[in-house]
Amino acid sequence: MDLPPALRSAVEAALAGISTDRLAGAAALLSSRYRGEVRDGRFHVDGEDAVLAYLAARLPATYAATRRAMRSAAEMLPDFQPASLLDLGAGPGTASFAAADCWPSLASATLCEGSASMRRAAERLAESDALPRTVAAMDLTGRLPALAQHDLVVIAYVLDEMEADQRQRLIEAAWNAATGLLLIVEPGTPAGWQRILDARASLLAAGAQVAAPCPHEAPCPLLPPDWCHFAARLPRSRTHLRTKQASVPFEDEKFIYLAASRTAPVSRDGRVLAPPRAGSGRVSLKLCEADGRMRERLVTRREGDDFRVARRLEWGDALPLAVNRRDNSA
Ligand SMILES: C[S@@+](CC[C@H](N)C(=O)[O-])C[C@H]1O[C@@H](n2cnc3c(N)ncnc32)[C@H](O)[C@@H]1O
Repeated sequence: MDLPPALRSAVEAALAGISTDRLAGAAALLSSRYRGEVRDGRFHVDGEDAVLAYLAARLPATYAATRRAMRSAAEMLPDFQPASLLDLGAGPGTASFAAADCWPSLASATLCEGSASMRRAAERLAESDALPRTVAAMDLTGRLPALAQHDLVVIAYVLDEMEADQRQRLIEAAWNAATGLLLIVEPGTPAGWQRILDARASLLAAGAQVAAPCPHEAPCPLLPPDWCHFAARLPRSRTHLRTKQASVPFEDEKFIYLAASRTAPVSRDGRVLAPPRAGSGRVSLKLCEADGRMRERLVTRREGDDFRVARRLEWGDALPLAVNRRDNSA
């Protein structure tokens, strides 16, 4: 999942002329704060160097994950054509670029962000894109003002920076503001999955319907040490490589998400929960299914069209197969 060309150019322009040492040092510091889930009252991205590190090392990955989650939500809600977006904890505006790419119906976006450095970056990147954006200062952990209603509300990679009670208040306010869809994206770690499960429980209690990834509203069938997550592959630009001092020209961003909708999804097709394992004439799929159970399914060449579809499935896809509705557990 590559960045749209205009965003890629705007990011490259912001990073032009910055030395590798400076970028790599700032990225290492940022990464240690994220990995440690440090909560010391400061924003992780505070100051110019942290913004540069975020643009180089994190924005391509959070864009890829958020765009992939949006694709899955849009597949389940084909009539959803949002005109307005509210992005809470917007950072440099990553989700607004992903949403504009996924839903060309978008006509405006409101980006709420606590860090002044991030707001400046969001304003700068917004100049590269046609979608009109308003960038507003907001503390998402304080007493939240009543949020104006928007068709689409996004909280991407934000909950991991908050305490449980703050998360709960934010999710409640975000759902009240969402007239169509609330999309939450988190890192694909066991802790990120747990935060999504907590959000899912409170959104279901508030009347939301799960559009994706779960094809049901029953309790999650996965049990630790397993956890639900997906991966989005993204190419690494030269700047990205030098910032991370890496040599592999791509990375797989692990993520987990929840698309909570005001309307029912068009299908309850099973979701592929792991990379499919293909052998000669057979594909083995780990699926979450409409009855709320997780099953391993074996699809063989004898199943004709289903097999041809199964061979092309990727981790995270919904399964549009007759096999999804039959019991042929391996
Ligand atoms: C990891 S970044 C994600 C940015 C963007 N959503 C993305 O996916 O690239 C988390 C963002 O949430 C913001 N944030 C965290 N806590 C916040 C708070 N209490 N109030 C407002 N913004 C906050 C941070 O400043 C940061 O920009």
